[in-house]
Amino acid sequence: MHVVITGGLGFIGSNFIRAVLRDRPDWRVTNLDLLTYAGNPANLADLERDPRYRFVKGDIAEPADVARALEGGADAIVNFAAESHVDRSILSAEPFVRTNVVGTVQLLEAARRLGSCRVIHISTDEVYGALGPDDPPFTEATAVNPTSPYAASKAAADHLALAFARTHGQDIVITRCSNNYGPYQFPEKLIPLMITNAIEGKRLPVYGDGRQVRDWIHVEDHCAGVLAVLERGRAGEVYNFGARSERYNIDIVARIVSLLKVQRELVEHVVDRPAHDRRYAMDAAKAEQELGWRPARSFEQGLADTVRWYVEHEDWWRAVKDGSYRDFYRTWYEERGP
Ligand code: NAD
Ligand code: TYD
Repeated sequence: MHVVITGGLGFIGSNFIRAVLRDRPDWRVTNLDLLTYAGNPANLADLERDPRYRFVKGDIAEPADVARALEGGADAIVNFAAESHVDRSILSAEPFVRTNVVGTVQLLEAARRLGSCRVIHISTDEVYGALGPDDPPFTEATAVNPTSPYAASKAAADHLALAFARTHGQDIVITRCSNNYGPYQFPEKLIPLMITNAIEGKRLPVYGDGRQVRDWIHVEDHCAGVLAVLERGRAGEVYNFGARSERYNIDIVARIVSLLKVQRELVEHVVDRPAHDRRYAMDAAKAEQELGWRPARSFEQGLADTVRWYVEHEDWWRAVKDGSYRDFYRTWYEERGP
């Protein structure tokens, strides 16, 4: 089995590649990643010499780069590559359209040319829009209604993926997952930003009243779900993933403050994000029933483990925060050539 994984030097993609090579020892993986600010070779430094792992630096929106990754054929493509941060999409939407929409189309077209290549397209709960406090969680039948430019670009890609499945009869499956947390998450996202700022004694910026709700899942539980979809998901279907762990942002920040034993005064309410979605929650019953998938970790355990991981991997996140991970990238990439 040869699987081409895109965005494999980012947070979820790197966790997925490590899990696949651990749990499916006879598979080969090609990682196609553009090494944007979010791509960090240190995330997979342990696999650099693994003969089952091949890295291709390239852009999913460039057909020639996609062709290089698919050289010799592929049984499946798992598309994690994306611009993934809502706040960046508010500042500038264009890179989100290029990677998330145009890039996804290039992968769908390349898979179509290959003939028998399964595509797993990784999407997000954010395509469904926001829930009110008493609304039931999103199901796969919930209408797509994105609010941020990030979510809109992901929704556009989802529509295209389903349209290719119907129009061309391609083997394409979509996963939509809630907010992930865990090792190797870029410290621009809520949980790693708060942990690392707290360790550094910096302020902890909570948007608005902090009473927004996200449904948190540990990245390894999400990766197990993606592997189940890759192996057993039905073509043309969407599968939701979540861990029934709805939490207020402010409560998560308070828990991090208490786990790290830092001063509560670091918490600072700042101006809210425009069009900030108030609540997300996922109904993952379809994945549980059809795929036999279940999240293995409670949020409290997963958060405590994650705080410990950042405490024990200070070199990793300090290099990201001070930008020196980019130098590591240059050395790493120049040694290998294009
Ligand atoms: P990330 O930002 O940590 O990583 C993205 C990776 O994609 C980076 O390695 C980057 O270099 C690469 N990339 C970006 N543009 C590229 C391009 N044009 N060509 C090739 N590679 C490119 O993202 P993440 O948090 O790991 O998210 C991965 C996927 O999961 C995304 O599709 C995201 O929408 C989805 N998702 C994320 C979450 C979450 O909580 N993080 C939740 C649900 C779904
Ligand atoms: P984030 O990790 O950016 O994920 P998303 O916006 O995709 O859900 O943010 C999670 C929640 O935390 C979201 O409600 C915004 C909020 N937030 C803050 O309050 N402060 C911050 O500094 C960040 C990055 C996020």
